[in-house]
Amino acid sequence: MSPAQTSAAAPTAAAARHENGGPARPAPDPINSVRCVGVHKSYHLGGEDVHALRGVDLDIAEPGFYAIMGASGSGKSTLLHLLGALDTPDQGEVLVAGKPLSRLSERELTDFRRDNIGIVFQQFNLIPTLTARENVELPGMLAGRNGADLRARASELLEALGVAQRAGHRPDALSGGEQQRVAIARALLFEPRILLADEPTGNLDSASSARLWELLARIAREHSTTVLMVTHEPAAAVHCGRVFVLRDGRVHGSIDTEGLDAAGVASCYQHLVRSA
Ligand SMILES: Nc1ncnc2c1ncn2[C@@H]1O[C@H](COP(=O)(O)OP(=O)(O)OP(=O)(O)O)[C@@H](O)[C@H]1O
Ligand SMILES: [Mg+2]
Repeated sequence: MSPAQTSAAAPTAAAARHENGGPARPAPDPINSVRCVGVHKSYHLGGEDVHALRGVDLDIAEPGFYAIMGASGSGKSTLLHLLGALDTPDQGEVLVAGKPLSRLSERELTDFRRDNIGIVFQQFNLIPTLTARENVELPGMLAGRNGADLRARASELLEALGVAQRAGHRPDALSGGEQQRVAIARALLFEPRILLADEPTGNLDSASSARLWELLARIAREHSTTVLMVTHEPAAAVHCGRVFVLRDGRVHGSIDTEGLDAAGVASCYQHLVRSA
């Protein structure tokens, strides 16, 4: 494990100047950016407070494939919910695609989420009575999109994700990997610049998991998408450029995975979670 690959401080935005002091680079397009500044979130349950996030700072300025790792209960899903505008922080600010989410009304948030963010949950959340194709088309129908365009887009996505042959099947007739790919197709319907995935391979065997990680990496690369995936698995993190490590409700550090295998990521991760 190279100490240079771990950073115990939250990463900062990309440098604005070349190292030789030359002209400033063009600022990255904020459409792909995800930022948290001092984010806190508590849950109140049965008279007890659970302080799930305790000052999260996170700065992703460019498209790519990123991971969030951390022990169970460290706040990973809570953070993803806030980034997906499904919940609001108690304190601090979440900025997605350059927009401070707290400034948007409920209605603006709904539109913003639809147009910018795709979300994939561990449990797929497919509608059991609809076919794979109908599941992918559903958000479009709810948004009043045109039937022919929507059909074409759903076909394109099902094809790209290798599940076109299964378009007419209901979820219970699909394997876990196929269901997950349909869920990803649905999340990509509106070409989101930001794709959030919460342990998307939690229910898959290792071969299906590896295929899914490659697919997410390809989406990030070929479509300039910011893909942010929660995972427990160092083998998944190898496919990501950077891993953010959550500990005790904060981003405790990050790992640059370049040149690391799964054992290397695991070692960096252990080093980070144990470091002061
Ligand atoms: N709706 C809720 N009500 C009360 N407490 C909650 C709720 N959701 C999460 N928590 C608590 O907040 C903390 C963070 O939970 P979160 O689900 O974000 O963790 P996680 O890192 O995703 O864990 P896991 O790896 O097990 O999925 C935990 O202590 C959890 O018990
Ligand atoms: Mg979770």
